[in-house]
Amino acid sequence: VATFAVFDPATRLTREYWISLAPGLQRIEVEIGSGDGKFLVEAALQHPTSLFVGFEVSAGSVARVLRRSPPPNALIKQLDGRWVVEHVLADRTIDAYHVYFPDPWWKKRHAKRRLFSGEFAQALRRTLVPGGSLYLLTDVETRYREIESVLAESGFAAFAWERSANSAAQSSYERKYRAQGRSVWGARFAPA
Ligand SMILES: C[S@@+](CC[C@H](N)C(=O)[O-])C[C@H]1O[C@@H](n2cnc3c(N)ncnc32)[C@H](O)[C@@H]1O
Repeated sequence: VATFAVFDPATRLTREYWISLAPGLQRIEVEIGSGDGKFLVEAALQHPTSLFVGFEVSAGSVARVLRRSPPPNALIKQLDGRWVVEHVLADRTIDAYHVYFPDPWWKKRHAKRRLFSGEFAQALRRTLVPGGSLYLLTDVETRYREIESVLAESGFAAFAWERSANSAAQSSYERKYRAQGRSVWGARFAPA
């Protein structure tokens, strides 16, 4: 699992492709915006038969994760996760998506940089396996409501979900906001 295929947008990567990267893999989970990789690495350590693939646009963050020698079932790649989901992944490939504290891009002129759009929601739905889920956390309530409604338009329902406060697999922002006692909004989303 140490290497990573070169993406060709004309050839979507199937579940079989990801499963074949290492013996014994049973689940493929994708994190978009992995930051310093705390969730990605800890989740991979906790679930050795799952492959965790992180897509992160910041080269510095990706380099910092790689310097920490992640386990072989944690991959991180400097790519726009939205582009990967929309154009690279085959249908019914991913068991779970994780999106923790996506950048809010407050300014109206930056709105198109926001992760969640109708196209992205459709692509999430297309690429999830039956029974798959998207796990989302954000510290911005209005953004949570917007994401919930974009996902609802693509047929996702929200289910109550909260990670245990003593789980090692918390993202850095999750841990920081929890320590500060800050409100966090989140849910597990699955096709209704
Ligand atoms: C606020 S940080 C949160 C990092 C981490 N998820 C956490 O909870 O600690 C948001 C991260 O998402 C990354 N990001 C934003 N848009 C992205 C995209 N379209 N694809 C991949 N990474 C993205 C940013 O570079 C940044 O590292």
